[in-house]
Amino acid sequence: MQHAFIIGGTGMLRDVSVWLSKKYSHTSILARNKERLTQLSESGTGLNLLSLDYKKTEALKEAVREAINMHGPIDVMVTWIHSNAPHAIPAILKEVRANQKEPFDFYHIKGSSESLKSIQSQVSLPSHCTKHDIQLGFMVGEQRSRWLTHHEISEGVIDAIKDGKKKTVIGQLEPWGLRP
Ligand SMILES: NC(=O)c1ccc[n+]([C@@H]2O[C@H](COP(=O)([O-])OP(=O)(O)OC[C@H]3O[C@@H](n4cnc5c(N)ncnc54)[C@H](OP(=O)(O)O)[C@@H]3O)[C@@H](O)[C@H]2O)c1
Repeated sequence: MQHAFIIGGTGMLRDVSVWLSKKYSHTSILARNKERLTQLSESGTGLNLLSLDYKKTEALKEAVREAINMHGPIDVMVTWIHSNAPHAIPAILKEVRANQKEPFDFYHIKGSSESLKSIQSQVSLPSHCTKHDIQLGFMVGEQRSRWLTHHEISEGVIDAIKDGKKKTVIGQLEPWGLRP
């Protein structure tokens, strides 16, 4: 059994959810809006759609625990979590640590203004977790710079998962003064 778990997988990461659902026999997708979750139900088989607010830490931990119990140990976890939920990632990692011994890859997606060093120091990792940081940058053209499109973000995340590198920047972050 293979299990992918994606948090925030109905917006800019929708294509990542679809890709995971074709690659893994079970894919848990967590977001609040039920309609947007249901729209994903035809994208693959073995979907576990979880309508939940990740700021509700106890409910989040329960959802992770139940997903592992029902669909097997998580192989890959992808998270896009806003900074208004600082307890979410530590709670998720603690719950995975408590409920599975099998190794897993954790892809942590962060916005453009976050420092990768500060992100790395914030998260305490279980020993069987390999962490991969993905930071969203911007694109610079001849005339102007712009933020990434949803397609570029999803493609960049999929490539990062395929590559398995520890650090990925989608687009560019330097020189920071060129940002849109
Ligand atoms: N460098 C860049 O180019 C860059 C960087 C960052 C963002 N952006 C852009 O900014 C836009 C806005 O980003 P966004 O993150 O607000 O929208 P988004 O792309 O829709 O992603 C947010 C995802 O997280 C879920 N979510 C949000 N709050 C949640 C909560 N409390 N509990 C559970 N799930 C939650 C959303 O679903 P629900 O709302 O249904 O819960 C959705 O699946 C994006 O469309 C992207 O293009 C660009």
